[in-house]
Amino acid sequence: MRRKVIAGNWKMNMLPNEAISMITELTPLVKEANSEVVLCVPYTDLFYALLTAQGTNIKIGAQNMHYEESGAYTGEVSAKMLKSIGVEYVIIGHSERRQYFAETDETVNKKVKAAFANELSPIVCVGETLEQREAGKQYDVITEQTRKALDGLSDKQVANTIIAYEPIWAIGTGKTATSEDANEAIKKIREEIGKIYGQNIAQEVIIQYGGSMKPTNAKELLEMSDIDGGLIGGASLKAKDFANIVMCLQ
Ligand code: 13P
Repeated sequence: MRRKVIAGNWKMNMLPNEAISMITELTPLVKEANSEVVLCVPYTDLFYALLTAQGTNIKIGAQNMHYEESGAYTGEVSAKMLKSIGVEYVIIGHSERRQYFAETDETVNKKVKAAFANELSPIVCVGETLEQREAGKQYDVITEQTRKALDGLSDKQVANTIIAYEPIWAIGTGKTATSEDANEAIKKIREEIGKIYGQNIAQEVIIQYGGSMKPTNAKELLEMSDIDGGLIGGASLKAKDFANIVMCLQ
């Protein structure tokens, strides 16, 4: 049985004092969770979030990183730097980074490799635009993004990659993919991994759904056969909402 991983993506929100309050409020609400609980926070919150979450079952992740270890890359943060302060997860290739910050399948692949080299767990985002969906190309898009992100990884690394299927048209719009649609897309991603790396590995990969997941629709999505968790934006900013999502299957 695959474990469920429920991860919040705060995006560019929350000052350190807000991060500390949110995590303090969240801690007792999710302490009995059967799922893994992760919060991916802005760089400026990482240290405070790590200290506040110490000794709890809440794990802390970053939202991006550079693929080089160090060097003349003004403004960037490396996997080694994240690891050095105790970060465990990192989101890679979020659609907002692909859209606004020139992230490509190639940089995603380099970042995934750098994350593993530094013992961080990558959460790799894939997802189609509305246009691509309307043209019937959504499965081609997400399987290609998946293939390229995983290219050159060992079997063990593939098995330990978390993939987040986030249809771009569902992000921040209040429109959620139906649970059947989301499950179908995730099955296609798993099939693609199976074709390249074999069924056993494909069955181990955690694949989340993301896009307007909230307390009112989380249970239905998370009960689907292939949806192994969620990557949650807006609803991860409030402790109660996020806790309701984390605890909805218990
Ligand atoms: P929303 O939950 O706000 O739609 O954001 C989803 C997302 O992009 C998580 O990475």
